[in-house]
Amino acid sequence: MYNSWLNIENKVVIVTGGASGIGKAIAQEYLNNGANVIVCDMNPKEPEFVLNENSGKSTYVLTDVTNSQSINNMVEIVKQKFGKIDILINNAGINIPRLLVDANEPKGKYELDEITWDKVVNVNFKGVFLCSQAVAREMVKQKSGVIINISSESGLEGSEGQSVYAATKNAVNSLTRSWAKELGKLGIRVVGVAPGILEATGLRTIEYETALAYTRNITVDELRAGYNKTSTTPLGRSGKLTEVADLVCYLGSERASYIHGVTYNIAGGKTRG
Ligand SMILES: NC(=O)c1ccc[n+]([C@@H]2O[C@H](COP(=O)([O-])OP(=O)(O)OC[C@H]3O[C@@H](n4cnc5c(N)ncnc54)[C@H](O)[C@@H]3O)[C@@H](O)[C@H]2O)c1
Repeated sequence: MYNSWLNIENKVVIVTGGASGIGKAIAQEYLNNGANVIVCDMNPKEPEFVLNENSGKSTYVLTDVTNSQSINNMVEIVKQKFGKIDILINNAGINIPRLLVDANEPKGKYELDEITWDKVVNVNFKGVFLCSQAVAREMVKQKSGVIINISSESGLEGSEGQSVYAATKNAVNSLTRSWAKELGKLGIRVVGVAPGILEATGLRTIEYETALAYTRNITVDELRAGYNKTSTTPLGRSGKLTEVADLVCYLGSERASYIHGVTYNIAGGKTRG
């Protein structure tokens, strides 16, 4: 049995970046609750979900959130198949740790360059704009809908070695606040969710950890030891993907009908990037 307390059965939910990590966990939780989920991702490998007779239906649409044509195509498919869009989760994101200036190796491998800047900004920031605009056009006609932007705790305070990533996330928090002002009167809620350190996802590759450790002048082992320290995260553990998914399902539901224009930190008490 799904949990009808949320009452999101038969809702139509788009999850960008839903083939992996947090997005996949969010998609699974919506499916568990009887919602129909359109998973959009660049990954050619379709994700597998655990389904039973009460689960919603999942549809996979290959989508590049940096490409408006690809997004319009996805929205068209959703409209034709379901005739409405209730919830958009802007979750697709990437993180490439770099220093503004590498004092030990100027213009070296781990110094921020324009290509890295553009890549991260395009997915994490422009992608949120393009997907939200395409979907909000439909929500405005319906006079209803919820947009949920997946941000990051690092966006609140900045983060050593992750300046461009943190900047895109803070920029997304700003979009959440502004779009709430524009869209609230049209019947659309806009909220954000900012997770802290979570159990490993596709984002935490060895390249990512090596680069982040370098930028902080520590070893990868020292970086990993920090994931579960109370000095980093007061609750002393990484967050579970299901804990983020539960919050996102709640925020998308009518139970959260007066929550608008804010970004929820879900980080075990961590507040310093
Ligand atoms: N993992 C964490 O600890 C953490 C913490 C805070 C915030 N976040 C945010 O959560 C979101 C999900 O991250 P994750 O940790 O699950 O990472 P992940 O790498 O497991 O998942 C991200 C997904 O986005 C997809 N993607 C990347 N570029 C895309 C594009 N152009 N178009 C469509 N899909 C694209 C990837 O293929 C991947 O499936 C991101 O926005 C990330 O910044 C993650």
